[in-house]
Amino acid sequence: MDKQFNRRDFLTTGAALAGSLMLPKAFAATRQKVRLGMIGTGMRGQVLLQELLRRDDVEVAALCDIEPVMLGRALKQVEKFNKPKPKTYGEDRDTQAYKRMLDAGGLDGVIIATPWEWHAPMAIAAMQAKIAVGCEVVAGITLQDHWDVLNTQLKSRTPYMLLENVCFRRDVMAVLQMVRAGVFGELVHLQGGYQHDLRAVKFNSGDPAKPYGGGVEYGAKGWSEAHWRTEHSVQRNGELYPSHGIGPCAMYTNINRGNRFTRINAFATKARGLHDYVVKQGGANHPSAKTTFKLGDVVTTTLACENGETILLQHDTSLPRPYSLGFRVQGTDGLWMDVNHSIHIEGKSKPHQWDDFQVWQDKYEHPLWKKYAKTAEGAGHGGMDFFVIHAFVEALKAEAPMPIDIYDAVTWSAITPLSEQSIAQNFQTLDFPDFTAGQWKSRKPIFAFDDRY
Ligand SMILES: NC(=O)c1ccc[n+]([C@@H]2O[C@H](COP(=O)([O-])OP(=O)(O)OC[C@H]3O[C@@H](n4cnc5c(N)ncnc54)[C@H](O)[C@@H]3O)[C@@H](O)[C@H]2O)c1
Repeated sequence: MDKQFNRRDFLTTGAALAGSLMLPKAFAATRQKVRLGMIGTGMRGQVLLQELLRRDDVEVAALCDIEPVMLGRALKQVEKFNKPKPKTYGEDRDTQAYKRMLDAGGLDGVIIATPWEWHAPMAIAAMQAKIAVGCEVVAGITLQDHWDVLNTQLKSRTPYMLLENVCFRRDVMAVLQMVRAGVFGELVHLQGGYQHDLRAVKFNSGDPAKPYGGGVEYGAKGWSEAHWRTEHSVQRNGELYPSHGIGPCAMYTNINRGNRFTRINAFATKARGLHDYVVKQGGANHPSAKTTFKLGDVVTTTLACENGETILLQHDTSLPRPYSLGFRVQGTDGLWMDVNHSIHIEGKSKPHQWDDFQVWQDKYEHPLWKKYAKTAEGAGHGGMDFFVIHAFVEALKAEAPMPIDIYDAVTWSAITPLSEQSIAQNFQTLDFPDFTAGQWKSRKPIFAFDDRY
């Protein structure tokens, strides 16, 4: 039977079944192996490629990157694993080479790990070619991009997963178990964000051997993320990277599945950190010191939810600070905060005192971590990169709904353009669009209910 017909068929069924809590038995693995391509084999692409190459159920059939150094590094990785050489695209630096890769056919799915501005057009082209998409975080740039990606998915019925790895972090997953077990009582307030000193990511010397720091070049002279990401700090002011923080919070509060974001606003501080860094590292006369950065050093976004919770996100990437996503999950019975790895549960903890979270994490270890902790060892970001790739591949093989689906993707990622709009309109509070067109009322949670994916 025609494979594409099959896929359309299962997706229609999948949509109807999205109302049931557990994945139905009919979704047992139907394919033993999937043929995947990858667009963008830069620093992130190479981490994800490693996870694909470690698996026996994935054939990496095609790679596309317009930077020959990055493409060469990816091919070396394939060689190390003694896997067949994939077809390659983009050596000619043609930014449209990915279309040739998609048109060549034969791919079940594609991983997109390119600069943000490419995610929407690449995902749309892949879904139009009926190739399933695993897209790195952010689904698009403008609000219209998000509608376009959503509408293409709905029309093509091609699987789309946002590769949001923090949803799979060990403590984050234990907290998910605790939320579902009612340990926090009724949830009231949550916090998260992206608090990561990226100054040495946004600036470097342009030397491919040293992607982090060592200079204050960006744009045409920068390498890896300094080549493209810094420009977003020049041109934009908003919550530019929402999904690491909002992903887990949205899973805890069942956003798009019985709950939804209703209102949003964002505040931005002045922009000082990046200019200060350039002057201290490169001197006041360096050309980068003439740049005016638009991105506020700390951007604080607040979301109101239909069921009465608030969620606060902070984007903080331009000042010196240790890494922390700043999670806080608070309910009528207590709260967890990740910055001090601590928890307080009324009746269990001593009044007004924190307990060490580790004991609770061990007790509520998620079944996925129980099963795969050893396999995940050595994978990127403390193992969670194994899980995010695992989830995509297993869902694709089983022809099951993606665990972080198109509605999650566009809802989480649209926080960026909406926060930009709020800031530009003097921190105005805005309505949050309902991408599900009312289906949030009847959709049921499906993320990580068992030890499969
Ligand atoms: N989930 C995570 O933890 C995580 C971590 C790092 C990066 N990321 C995301 O991964 C993506 C890539 O980031 P990165 O750090 O690898 O950046 P990078 O600059 O190192 O790699 C991006 C690659 O895309 C290639 N590219 C650009 N335009 C292209 C085109 N038209 N066709 C084909 N290739 C093209 C570049 O040549 C480059 O090699 C970004 O969206 C970033 O936000 C996610």
